[in-house]
Amino acid sequence: MKITTAWKLALKKEPRTTGEFDKLPEHVAIIMDGNGRWARKHKLSVSRGHRQGTETLREIIRHTDDLGIKALSLYAFSTENWKRSEEEVAALMQLILDFFASEIDELDEKNVRILILGDKSALPEKQRETLKEAERRTGKNTGLRLNIAINYGGRAELVKAAQEIAILVKNGTLRPEEITENTISDHLYTQGQPDVDLLIRTSGEQRLSNFLLYQNAYAEFVFPEVLWPDFTVHDYDLALDAFAHRERRFGKRL
Ligand code: IPE
Ligand code: IPE
Ligand code: MG
Repeated sequence: MKITTAWKLALKKEPRTTGEFDKLPEHVAIIMDGNGRWARKHKLSVSRGHRQGTETLREIIRHTDDLGIKALSLYAFSTENWKRSEEEVAALMQLILDFFASEIDELDEKNVRILILGDKSALPEKQRETLKEAERRTGKNTGLRLNIAINYGGRAELVKAAQEIAILVKNGTLRPEEITENTISDHLYTQGQPDVDLLIRTSGEQRLSNFLLYQNAYAEFVFPEVLWPDFTVHDYDLALDAFAHRERRFGKRL
């Protein structure tokens, strides 16, 4: 069989560069799943699994930035994740502090703009202040838009948007018939950013789990089997490659 360029690229394990993709998404969203199963597989604590997951996170953010992708949204903690054990929640909260302490300088230096998606008010004070400070410090940066979803739920986000819009109608700033799809987008956390083009969920699960419900309306989905701590830049390149070869129709007949 003839080895085509596409084949050679699929076999290539080194990180790819922008020009090696036919097309890249503007906005990638990732549901980082499988830390618990990774920990069980290696007979380690679940906290250790989450910690290993942050190693993957670093690599994936770096590669996204190198490729010049505009926006990356990462699901780190859902509104439903509070239902886990006190110990696991505490470990995840600690990881938030550790992650920002070790990464913020480099991210800021790389001109990355951080935005937290979700309700920060329900978080412990230290975490809340750390996240606010990261947003403040990088707020004027013009590079990669890095959105980290913490205490985030897609339905809660839509409820918040509905409440804000209702207030505008009530005080006479907006008439109900003036509400458009853009009005809704403008009241989401991701306001001003493009919709998600590519959604990746690792670990083989194939569901949204309440992530970016509105923004994922026309996203392409890729579900690698690999667990998040084992997900490599090469796996990421393969997902980006799958995206490049999808035919997006948006309802039209092409
Ligand atoms: C995803 O890994 C990370 C978070 C939800 C914070 P999980 O902890 O859900 O991993 P599994 O699904 O149990 O393997
Ligand atoms: C979604 O994963 C949330 C994050 C990755 C942060 P979960 O593991 O919590 O989702 P379910 O419970 O399997 O749907
Ligand atoms: Mg999970």
